[in-house]
Amino acid sequence: MQIMRNQKSISSSLPQIRTCAASLHFTFTMARYLTGVQSSGVPHLGNILGAILPSIRFSEQTGNECIYFIADYHSLTTIKSAEERMHNVHSTAAAWLAFGFDHEKNILFRQSDVKQVLELTWILSCFTPFPMLANAHSFKDKSERLSDVNAGLFTYPVLMAADILLYDTEFVPVGKDQIQHIEIARDIASAFNRHYQTEALTLPKAALQKDGLTIPGTDGAKMSKSYGNFIDVFSDEKALRKTIMGIKTDSTPMEEPKDPEKDTVFSLYQLISSQQEATELAALYRGGNFGYGHAKQMLFEKCLQFFGPARERFAQLMADPDRIESILSEGALKAAIKAEEVLGRVKSLTGFR
Ligand code: TRP
Repeated sequence: MQIMRNQKSISSSLPQIRTCAASLHFTFTMARYLTGVQSSGVPHLGNILGAILPSIRFSEQTGNECIYFIADYHSLTTIKSAEERMHNVHSTAAAWLAFGFDHEKNILFRQSDVKQVLELTWILSCFTPFPMLANAHSFKDKSERLSDVNAGLFTYPVLMAADILLYDTEFVPVGKDQIQHIEIARDIASAFNRHYQTEALTLPKAALQKDGLTIPGTDGAKMSKSYGNFIDVFSDEKALRKTIMGIKTDSTPMEEPKDPEKDTVFSLYQLISSQQEATELAALYRGGNFGYGHAKQMLFEKCLQFFGPARERFAQLMADPDRIESILSEGALKAAIKAEEVLGRVKSLTGFR
């Protein structure tokens, strides 16, 4: 079981969040992976099991240096409230740290703390053919769905290209929906390099993340913030219990046997339990005289057990925003060193001081 391995790494890496000063000697010698994390709310169970834990595990493998940043400038395309943005940035950072992301070996920073990205965005936008943006499918999707179709939504891929190119990124771990954005970043970089007959910008490659895990939400469909079917494992116990008790199940009466494979409660349970615990629960389902209410209670308790240490860490961090800010600024300092170097190259080629 993939997730079970995480359980060890969660508990073993929790104490890694320390206050010591950032090492400014980030070497950039290993394979460099960079990815932007959306900050559209408190990360939920689907984000955690589907993205955060696998990414942390990936960053723990030797030879990988991971630059993960919270894409707060991108969030302005849809979120306008200052409080909401601050809260989202803090809770996203707190979640990554609570699950043990090693921000000293790697880099965790807030996009808007490295302002060079905006300068590069403008320069790159002048090398971006208009039709390339007009044809981007994420823009088409969003402009059909959203009422506020602003220019930021349109130029979103240029900012994303700047995010990537600013750090000489080689690989960008992303899901399928972001591949076109990586291609756009490559195209912009090639256009720039071609124009100046240089290799000043590194051409990035997408490192496609396997869609192995689809985490079902409380209604059985894929868990997503926008469907409102998510489980917030950081909410207080009462709210968490209420959400879990609200998971949709079929109407098989209590006494009758049930098929665990068709049930969301069971699917979620097995993602965070041991193989043996899952087998035991499956037997209870099949044996009859075991209701969904019982299964939900077991899932609730398992959540508290599995996420207990992370919940505690998360709460401590959220109660100490200065601590989060200091970790994020350490990350920004490390990132800015690289950003200055790349932006310097670009500016001298384009005739800016
Ligand atoms: N657009 C990405 C998403 O929606 C987030 C993102 C912003 C990103 N900048 C990035 C991802 C740079 C990879 C690299 O998930």
